[in-house]
Amino acid sequence: MATALLPRDQPTPSLAVVTGAASGINLDISRVLIENDIRVLGVDVNGDGLKEAADLFGTAFIPHVCDLRDRQAIADLAHVREVREADVLVNGAGRLVPAEQHETKDQDVIDGLMIMLYAPMILGRHVLPGMYERGFGRIINLASIYGMFGGWGKGEYSAAKHGLVGWTECLAQECAGTGVAVSCVSPAHADTPLFDQQFVDEAVKAGQTTPQRGAVLRGQIPGHVAVQTWEIAALVHWLATDAPPCMNGSIINADFGWTRGVQRNTTSLDVLRTLSPADIKGVLASVGVTAEVTGVAAR
Ligand SMILES: NC(=O)c1ccc[n+]([C@@H]2O[C@H](COP(=O)([O-])OP(=O)(O)OC[C@H]3O[C@@H](n4cnc5c(N)ncnc54)[C@H](O)[C@@H]3O)[C@@H](O)[C@H]2O)c1
Repeated sequence: MATALLPRDQPTPSLAVVTGAASGINLDISRVLIENDIRVLGVDVNGDGLKEAADLFGTAFIPHVCDLRDRQAIADLAHVREVREADVLVNGAGRLVPAEQHETKDQDVIDGLMIMLYAPMILGRHVLPGMYERGFGRIINLASIYGMFGGWGKGEYSAAKHGLVGWTECLAQECAGTGVAVSCVSPAHADTPLFDQQFVDEAVKAGQTTPQRGAVLRGQIPGHVAVQTWEIAALVHWLATDAPPCMNGSIINADFGWTRGVQRNTTSLDVLRTLSPADIKGVLASVGVTAEVTGVAAR
């Protein structure tokens, strides 16, 4: 006879708010939640994308156009009924504008922090009272490997994602034992428009072609495979439904071991292969070694 793996003494969520729901990972998260009878208030600046999602998912998907760069729009969203009644909040909206720090534009810094840090914190504040009252709630924040360590040209993105991790850790202390749990999912590169755009934007700055930059970025991932959107969707669904309460405060690396490898300071030929000869020459020069580098030999 089959036995339940988990004691189901926690409520089953029925309503989620998912930001960035028009595309990529969050679109797939919305799909999985809806397939599991959880209605979704899908928030995005991309109205056409939301409409397509609504056509796909039907009435279980409630589209809500909102520009999360706009403080007033966030305030208005925070007062929408579905936000007050949400069992689950997925803070998934994000964007990446690569720029070296001396070249960043004020507005890009502000916008990035608004979308990926300010909006999650404000929405979190507005879902929490209802969650505490009902004794159940899940807040799931989409961070990134760049919320765990830095990356070239990703200052604003990485700062926002590190902030999201810090906010998660603080909130976890407060909601422990209340039935509400907060966690972060930190994916490596995932096959989405955000990742594809990175090839284009960074290629120009790195003096590479788009396919070359794509190969470099993919080459950084252990195993050289990108995360699939369904993998993150499955993880988020589990966090929203079956994950035990002790998962509160968890920062979950969905990255094939990349973050732990970096934390343990492992270096490998694979990492070197992601660098151009000019990059390697620069690294060597920074420690006082002058060398001509033509390439990295295959293992
Ligand atoms: N793709 C990756 O490699 C990767 C890796 C780690 C983490 N992430 C994170 O996962 C999340 C989803 O990203 P994705 O890869 O699916 O990208 P995506 O570009 O497919 O989706 C991001 C969504 O956010 C929305 N968005 C952007 N600016 C907005 C704004 N001002 N207001 C409202 N919505 C806005 C976009 O319209 C889009 O629908 C992001 O938080 C991203 O940082 C992505």
